Amino acid sequence: MKVATKLCNLLFTTISFLLLFSGLGVDSMDYDYFATTKCITEPHKAQYGGGIIVNPDFDHNIENWTVFGNNGNRFIIASNRTQTLDSFSQKVLLKKELLYMFSAWIQLSEGSDIVSVVFNINGSELVRGGHVIAKNGCWSFLKGGIVANFSSSAEILFESNNPSVEIWADSVSLQPFTKEEWRSHQDNNIEKVRKSRVRFHVSNANETALEGAKVVIKQTKANFPFGCGMNQHILTNGDYRDWFVSRFKYTTFTNQMKWYSTEIIQGQENYTISDAMLKFTKENGICVRGHNIFWDDEKYQPEWVKSLSPDELREAAAKRIKSVVTRYKGELIAWDVVNENVHFHFYEDKLGENASELYYLRAYELDPTTTLFMNEYNTIEYSGDKVASPANYFNKLNEILQSPEASEMSFAIGLQCHFGSGRPNLAYMRSGLDFLGQIGFPIWLTETSVDPQPKQAEYFEEILREGYSHPAVKGIIMFAGPAQAGFNTTLLADENFKTTPTGKVVDKLISEWGIGPYTAIADHRGIVDIALHYGEYDVTVTHPLTQHSEKLNISVGKEFSHKNVKMHA
Ligand SMILES: *[C@@H]1O[C@H](CO)[C@@H](O)[C@H](O)[C@H]1NC(C)=O
Ligand SMILES: *[C@@H]1O[C@H](CO)[C@@H](O)[C@H](O)[C@H]1NC(C)=O
Ligand SMILES: *[C@@H]1O[C@H](CO)[C@@H](O)[C@H](O)[C@H]1NC(C)=O
Ligand SMILES: *[C@@H]1O[C@H](CO)[C@@H](O)[C@H](O)[C@H]1NC(C)=O
Ligand SMILES: *[C@@H]1O[C@H](CO)[C@@H](O)[C@H](O)[C@H]1NC(C)=O
Ligand SMILES: *[C@@H]1O[C@H](CO)[C@@H](O)[C@H](O)[C@H]1NC(C)=O
Ligand SMILES: *[C@@H]1O[C@H](CO)[C@@H](O)[C@H](O)[C@H]1NC(C)=O
Ligand SMILES: *[C@@H]1O[C@H](CO)[C@@H](O)[C@H](O)[C@H]1NC(C)=O
Ligand SMILES: *[C@@H]1O[C@H](CO)[C@@H](O)[C@H](O)[C@H]1NC(C)=O
Repeated sequence: MKVATKLCNLLFTTISFLLLFSGLGVDSMDYDYFATTKCITEPHKAQYGGGIIVNPDFDHNIENWTVFGNNGNRFIIASNRTQTLDSFSQKVLLKKELLYMFSAWIQLSEGSDIVSVVFNINGSELVRGGHVIAKNGCWSFLKGGIVANFSSSAEILFESNNPSVEIWADSVSLQPFTKEEWRSHQDNNIEKVRKSRVRFHVSNANETALEGAKVVIKQTKANFPFGCGMNQHILTNGDYRDWFVSRFKYTTFTNQMKWYSTEIIQGQENYTISDAMLKFTKENGICVRGHNIFWDDEKYQPEWVKSLSPDELREAAAKRIKSVVTRYKGELIAWDVVNENVHFHFYEDKLGENASELYYLRAYELDPTTTLFMNEYNTIEYSGDKVASPANYFNKLNEILQSPEASEMSFAIGLQCHFGSGRPNLAYMRSGLDFLGQIGFPIWLTETSVDPQPKQAEYFEEILREGYSHPAVKGIIMFAGPAQAGFNTTLLADENFKTTPTGKVVDKLISEWGIGPYTAIADHRGIVDIALHYGEYDVTVTHPLTQHSEKLNISVGKEFSHKNVKMHA
């Protein structure tokens, strides 16, 4: 069983992140991977030539823009601002169902602040579309987007908290895409980042090509971790067990490792349930993300923790982290160390600003091989939440990793991805993944879900495809499951274990992303050339006349591979 855990851990060490990027060519719907977290002296030209923005590079001064206050020559300036939304603006028409990618280069006249792009829809609703930490003295790249729920006009505005600074902008772009274009871009990306070509050359014993040989390829292990949350019902409900084991090799326990579950009464730790769940996962070769050591939201502390003095809390928390991390050392593929510490700061408030940083360092000290995650909601799923914007996530990440001791830590970015109701803003989601992706750490979508609504299945598919197609995403866990286990938000099977429409989407993707089997017939050169998702495969090659068959195992990785199969009968 230790072997299973070792295999789980390899995931993080064998995938070289930067290599993947260097393999990416320039793409029409580009991933702009140059350092968007960097601030540069000259802005780049507008993406897509500005798209539907008129005069995007200010080549014609400020023509077609509405200005607030002053203006410059080579870029536009909003000065003398008094309200956070005072800025230059341009009106555009949004068309129902289209997805719009937004980008601009932003600078401030002084200091540093978050600047957001805001779409004033039809003069009645403000929708934020993206954020950047802009500074004085250099240009920062603001990326984002919007999906149009209906056709209407929209005024593009820029927002910064401090109205007394000037906002400068250059190279503004808003490019529309149809759903079909978006999907085809996802598909192209999946071909590039999740699959590679394998060529089989089937021959007779005398080396002549064997036309008509049947090649059956069946995946035995997917390289991409696509998993599902699990709760304590797995211990008692056989149908739930069967349902789970036949689909998933990766999981997160929804609540059972949390402090409020393992130490309800101070000093009386009880790991019965999480131990039993871990035993079940080991027996079934399922890799587990640890969730979580601490939760920075005051609401979700064990009751008794809420009233501790800072010193008592420090002591209790030291016991907690030592207890849970050493107990499961080497058994988990990940730890969410301080959950939701971009939104909340219970520990920071009580113990000092660097509380999160200290707990990441402590977790690393206790278990140096497990990947340590931040884990936050709304960062890519909801553009209206500025608190946990990609920019603020990045700030917190830098705080956690600031000390030299952190440099060796295996660290990753966890994005919960709890989508609410309404069409998911995939343009915003992608811009957030782009932004966080180029920091260089693996990204996992850790709790993917979408609220119940008529188009839940369709939206869930869009979200999962967006995640799977993004090169920076290294794993996806859904917080979803069958009704009998209480997963009533993103329900995959009903009370009778009948697959729901949303469950059908999940099963379709599991199969599409690799389970197979694929069957192909060798051409007149004896060749079968096929693109396979990264993973392990069993291959059976059958002679067209004698029905003699040969078996081989292959491992599909980034490299093109070539297999010669010689048939001896
Ligand atoms: C941009 O401004 C020019 C000059 O005022 C005007 O002729 C043109 O119609 C404007 N274009 C748009 C799309 O508003
Ligand atoms: C901005 O305010 C300053 C001083 O308050 C004033 O001198 C200047 O003319 C104003 N600029 C514009 C464009 O209104
Ligand atoms: C846009 O606003 C106008 C009035 O301000 C209203 O008549 C119209 O219905 C609105 N359109 C949409 C799509 O909400
Ligand atoms: C090679 O082997 C195949 C099958 O045994 C046979 O049909 C074919 O004639 C052979 N070709 C040569 C050049 O020996
Ligand atoms: C620990 O938890 C289990 C499962 O909830 C329970 O059955 C058991 O009684 C608990 N043990 C103690 C000592 O409270
Ligand atoms: C945490 O913050 C305190 C106070 O600001 C500082 O003295 C200490 O060195 C910091 N610890 C680390 C590990 O950075
Ligand atoms: C689209 O609808 C969703 C949910 O109803 C809402 O959150 C979002 O702001 C809407 N977008 C636009 C552009 O109105
Ligand atoms: C969904 O499940 C939660 C927790 O299991 C429960 O509190 C809630 O009432 C359920 N909601 C519905 C609509 O069944
Ligand atoms: C292929 O791998 C399976 C395990 O997945 C093993 O049982 C089988 O013997 C292997 N076959 C070959 C031809 O290596």
